[in-house]
Amino acid sequence: MKVLILEDAAAAVARAAGLVSATVISRPEIVLGLATGGTMLPLYADLRRRHAEGSLSFAGVTTFNLDEYVGLAPAHPGSYHTYMREALFDHVDIDPARTHLPRGDAADPRAEAQRYEQAITDRGGIDLQLLGIGRNGHIGFNEPTSSLGSRTRIKTLTIETREANRRYFTEGEEVPRYALSMGIGTIMEARACLLLATGSTKAEACARMIEGAIGAACPATALQMHPRVTAVLDREAAAALELKDYYDHVHPEGGDTVFD
Ligand code: PGA
Repeated sequence: MKVLILEDAAAAVARAAGLVSATVISRPEIVLGLATGGTMLPLYADLRRRHAEGSLSFAGVTTFNLDEYVGLAPAHPGSYHTYMREALFDHVDIDPARTHLPRGDAADPRAEAQRYEQAITDRGGIDLQLLGIGRNGHIGFNEPTSSLGSRTRIKTLTIETREANRRYFTEGEEVPRYALSMGIGTIMEARACLLLATGSTKAEACARMIEGAIGAACPATALQMHPRVTAVLDREAAAALELKDYYDHVHPEGGDTVFD
């Protein structure tokens, strides 16, 4: 795993956005896997800025998001459909027909999970998957003990995850209990992954992901088995890494001459 450590969150976000942008520019027809969550909001803001300045086009890009809440229609304000429209899709030249998220309101969520897997396969798979990480080590909504070979399916969210995401719902509204999420096996088939983590609340999860023993108790550890993962961290998220000095030595100031 390539570990790039930047001084602060703004620098980490700019680094990750720069890598995404350079990849899209070099492969305009790319299939991008997208993530949601608070960490990604400034990254999408950076991509919007690049688009507004004329340096980045999404006209040929296809996207697949990691997950969506079961029971929420695309128009629901707390849905990830809404998040993506507001954070990125409504502000750039992407063809809405090429943007994909699982349908949370599908009558048969199991069939929807299978359809989603097939849609990814039909478009040739994901070239670059963006990832955040949960405090409990989840990627997508693959909560601890998720099978490391799992495919898109229904996942029950942990109480901790529901609490962390309560801010996206109005007061008194119930945070959904279930999500449709790409599996760890689905994520592992992406040709490359770019994980962004910022802030001290992610330090323990990042240390486990990068240096801990591989196991379903921390699903992000599966990424150690992936040949092309770049983790972009700020100093706070990197604080618990034992080999921090080594990562700084290999990639001074988060620099990297080759990004696959
Ligand atoms: P966050 O979520 O960016 O809101 O912390 C990340 C995640 O849970 O994957």
